[in-house]
Amino acid sequence: MPVRVNRYLASTGLGSRRAVEDLIRAGRVTVNGRVAELATVVAEGDDVRVDGMPVRPESTMTVLLNKPRGAVTTARDPQGRPTVTGLVEAGVRLFPVGRLDRDTTGVLLLTNDGELAEHLMHPRHGVAKTYRARVSGEPGEAALDRLRAGIELDDGPTTPAEVTSRGAGVVDITIHEGRNRQVRRMFAAIGHPVIHLDRRAYAGLTAGRLARGKWRVLTPSEVEDLRRV
Ligand code: URA
Repeated sequence: MPVRVNRYLASTGLGSRRAVEDLIRAGRVTVNGRVAELATVVAEGDDVRVDGMPVRPESTMTVLLNKPRGAVTTARDPQGRPTVTGLVEAGVRLFPVGRLDRDTTGVLLLTNDGELAEHLMHPRHGVAKTYRARVSGEPGEAALDRLRAGIELDDGPTTPAEVTSRGAGVVDITIHEGRNRQVRRMFAAIGHPVIHLDRRAYAGLTAGRLARGKWRVLTPSEVEDLRRV
């Protein structure tokens, strides 16, 4: 405090900074009775309202889920499949940081901290995501070198990746982007489609001893480290 009104609203769990900017532009936000603009600053004790309802910063929570196969990374699934948000009963509404495919397992963060989510997903920060891929066939070093160097996909070339073969069709790959189905598309492009994909680490955080389908709240120091990536 004092902070810009968009930042304040993002800290209330209303949504990302960009989402709350839409509320401000739509004239739905008031500060001390006056319609807020993007440049409005909020200080301790100010009366901030959205559609006339007072809002207060909620304490933020970030959790790590060891996602099981079959859960979808959406808030609600029209087909009634299990969702990652349904697996995390934290007493507050959390949203996933990025997404994993339905059949991908492993580390997924969920948070109600819009600032943190935006920070982690911003391409400029190039957060490291490490996957273990079981692929069809045994890719040779030449094929893996293509992944390391960056490979052309239909939405543009990938940035360099760290790639280590574990043998028997198992490959560890670390990427610093988060395009849709990126790892699956990269392996398909070298002729070794993915059979199973497990995210082993996100920004250095691993599932550790958490069983599949289980989650834990991150510690304040883990969250601080995430803010610095
Ligand atoms: N890349 C993919 O192809 N799928 C995921 O779930 C995550 C990264």
